[in-house]
Amino acid sequence: MAQLNGPTKSTDSTTTPPWTPSSWTSKPIKQDAIYEDRKSVEKSLSKLERLPPIVTPTEIEKLKASLRDVALGKAFLLQGGDCAELFDYCEENAIESKIKLLLQMSLVLIWGSNKPVVRIARMAGQYAKPRSSPTELVDGVETPSFRGDILNGFEVGERALDPARLVSAYFHSASTLNFIRGSIASGIADLHRPLDWGLGHVRDPELQTKYSNIVSSITDSLRFMRTVGADTAGQLQTVDLFTSHEGLLLEYEQRLTRLLRNPTKSLVSRASGTTAEDTKSYYNTSAHFLWVGDRTRQIDGAHIEYFRGIANPIGVKIGPTTSPSDLLALLRTLNPSVEVGKITLITRYGASKVRSLLPTHIKTVEGSEYARSVVWQCDPMHGNTRSTSTGIKTRQFTDILSELQETLAIHKEEGSYLGGVHLELTGEAVTECTGGSEGLNEDDLSLNYTSFCDPRLNEKQALELAFLIAGHYRGEEKQL
Ligand code: PEP
Ligand code: CO
Repeated sequence: MAQLNGPTKSTDSTTTPPWTPSSWTSKPIKQDAIYEDRKSVEKSLSKLERLPPIVTPTEIEKLKASLRDVALGKAFLLQGGDCAELFDYCEENAIESKIKLLLQMSLVLIWGSNKPVVRIARMAGQYAKPRSSPTELVDGVETPSFRGDILNGFEVGERALDPARLVSAYFHSASTLNFIRGSIASGIADLHRPLDWGLGHVRDPELQTKYSNIVSSITDSLRFMRTVGADTAGQLQTVDLFTSHEGLLLEYEQRLTRLLRNPTKSLVSRASGTTAEDTKSYYNTSAHFLWVGDRTRQIDGAHIEYFRGIANPIGVKIGPTTSPSDLLALLRTLNPSVEVGKITLITRYGASKVRSLLPTHIKTVEGSEYARSVVWQCDPMHGNTRSTSTGIKTRQFTDILSELQETLAIHKEEGSYLGGVHLELTGEAVTECTGGSEGLNEDDLSLNYTSFCDPRLNEKQALELAFLIAGHYRGEEKQL
């Protein structure tokens, strides 16, 4: 492997050792995967190394440019998908319903915020899960925890780590993305087609009227655009949809990391006469966007070491255990050149803690050289997970809404911009989170609880959240 520094090399080379795609291996690592059959792991890894990129630098740089707009307050970011994507979700209906839901939500958000919406799916690779405990009790027997389909299976007999899953993850990602690309190219996002808003479930008549009014307003706007011929460039027919996952399993991520021509640097270099090598950057080609989880963002740890060298836009989960000094240290390590939009801070405190923690984090960042350079994104899911009296993991819609509402209010008070939301959702009618306009309660959870990890918003709850955010931007704060 070439001993080139990563694209985010510090100007002070005495303090920052050189980065390589494998330099993370010299650092302490959390959530490590220890396989019994190392030989098979190496075989899988060399296979991965030969396989072509799943996404390209041109697409990655396009997303980075869009995220720059989000950081500057000119666009909004919608990111969503399953907590743990399963290989089984690589199936026509599951993929299609999630794309449709994200598109529909983004339409509502465009209408509400009057800004373009950047869409990132937690899809086509969200296969590795950090766990609080390496084992769990299944029928009273201590069993290795399910760590995501890239590592082991959910069935009790499949809990041993299986090296063949590394390659399987690549092919499931590639097939999922292939179908997403095909669907979009074939017009799944074509707004000339009527959309099914399905508001029949909304029980409260006042809410029903409010949501119906939003839908009418969106439908009228679309009709107007078509009538006046505002769609000459075909913008109503297609959209961008980017992919993302948590960059947890570094052995996998390393093998999909490639030194490739950077389309933005190449443009600059043509004018300044630099060498071809200077115009290359290390890209993680397994997804457009990767994030570091709350459990693996130690400043001197393996994950941050890996992330500091890739040219992709990246996310960092920030929560109650993030100190202001760690927050700044993370930004300085991951983005020493203060690239606008490079880092998305995904905040997840919980409804009861956000008020006491977020203002300090905002002041820390916005009072530093990173002011106006980050995307602030609210993840109202991960600080609000709880168990019912019968031990079912759930989240209440009101808690999710409350964290989002507080986050919006705090950013307004601090003069910063809440650039986006990060949600766990599915296009299916699951019953995993309580509340929402369908009025799901704890007794309903068992009706269709299919998540093998965290509880997701179902399609109605997710769309409702989009309506509420849109309403907020349209000046209906009191209702959010
Ligand atoms: C997740 O996004 O599924 C996750 C595990 O989040 P966090 O790292 O914030 O706990
Ligand atoms: Co989760």
